[in-house]
Amino acid sequence: MVNVFSILTPLLHVLMSLAGVRRQTVEIEPGTAMNFWVPNETIKTNKDHSQKKQKLNKPVVVLVHGFAVDGILTWFFQVLALTGKYAVYVPDLLFFGGSVTTSAERSSAFQAECLAKGLRKLGVERCTLVGFSLGGMVGFKMAKFYPDLVESMVVSGSVVEFTQSVSDALLKNIGFSRWSDYLMPDSAEGVKVLLSIASHKLPWLPDFFFRDFLQVMFSNRKERAELLEALVISDKDSTIPKYTQRIHLLWGENDKIFNLEVAHNLKERLGRETTLQYIEKAGHLSPLERPCMYNRHLKKILASLMADGEQ
Ligand SMILES: *[C@@H]1O[C@H](CO)[C@@H](O)[C@H](O)[C@H]1NC(C)=O
Repeated sequence: MVNVFSILTPLLHVLMSLAGVRRQTVEIEPGTAMNFWVPNETIKTNKDHSQKKQKLNKPVVVLVHGFAVDGILTWFFQVLALTGKYAVYVPDLLFFGGSVTTSAERSSAFQAECLAKGLRKLGVERCTLVGFSLGGMVGFKMAKFYPDLVESMVVSGSVVEFTQSVSDALLKNIGFSRWSDYLMPDSAEGVKVLLSIASHKLPWLPDFFFRDFLQVMFSNRKERAELLEALVISDKDSTIPKYTQRIHLLWGENDKIFNLEVAHNLKERLGRETTLQYIEKAGHLSPLERPCMYNRHLKKILASLMADGEQ
């Protein structure tokens, strides 16, 4: 039987091109290439050599995905909602969605460096970064290293630093001993558990969905396991930098992985300027589970950031 994603994926790509974003591969450095979905008007065609770097009048929003699925599968609802007002860029982090590296580096700082280089090559000078889960962790690194590039952030279901004690506590909550066991299942049943824990209430899906998901979503297992290992740092190395950016937290109220306690602690540690908003009846996967609500909040936050930026 045909894998359901071999039908869904091309459909999604058509939908994205109608929304005005196209996929482009950017060589970050020899041996490292990242996929980006970029506004179609930035892609240079043979006809307009003359314009070296096409400037967009719209403010730039970069949507960074989490572990398990690639950029466009995580964010397609948001792309559809945002392309009218914003220049939307959706990268695939290394070892997801066709982004690869021959480097042995696995840290989120390296992901952040590659992402920043890629965006610069695409002509992005300033952006608001929306980071979900792993994407939030990479985003926090990017905000720290490249404050001129990352103007502001919206973060969902994530932390600045994934310390051993936080990691242990969260794993215990979901009943696993290793992140790779949870995030990289090897059976359809495991996929079901993965998605059930990640959502507030998983809608009914046929068994073949989980089987097909298993078949296509878990490439680069070895490298992804290494990414997970590199993510957890010892408690004594933990420091939360002072961010100059405006940071908004947008959280699934029923997030069972990065629960509300995590969200509150993060807000405390980031300081008074940081806001925290919840999406009711949404779990960790809030951008996908309650896209309309998520988008409504996100649009408001982005509008407020843009208004501040103009002053
Ligand atoms: C970009 O996509 C939009 C929406 O589909 C379309 O109207 C526009 O013509 C496209 N622009 C280019 C340069 O392809």
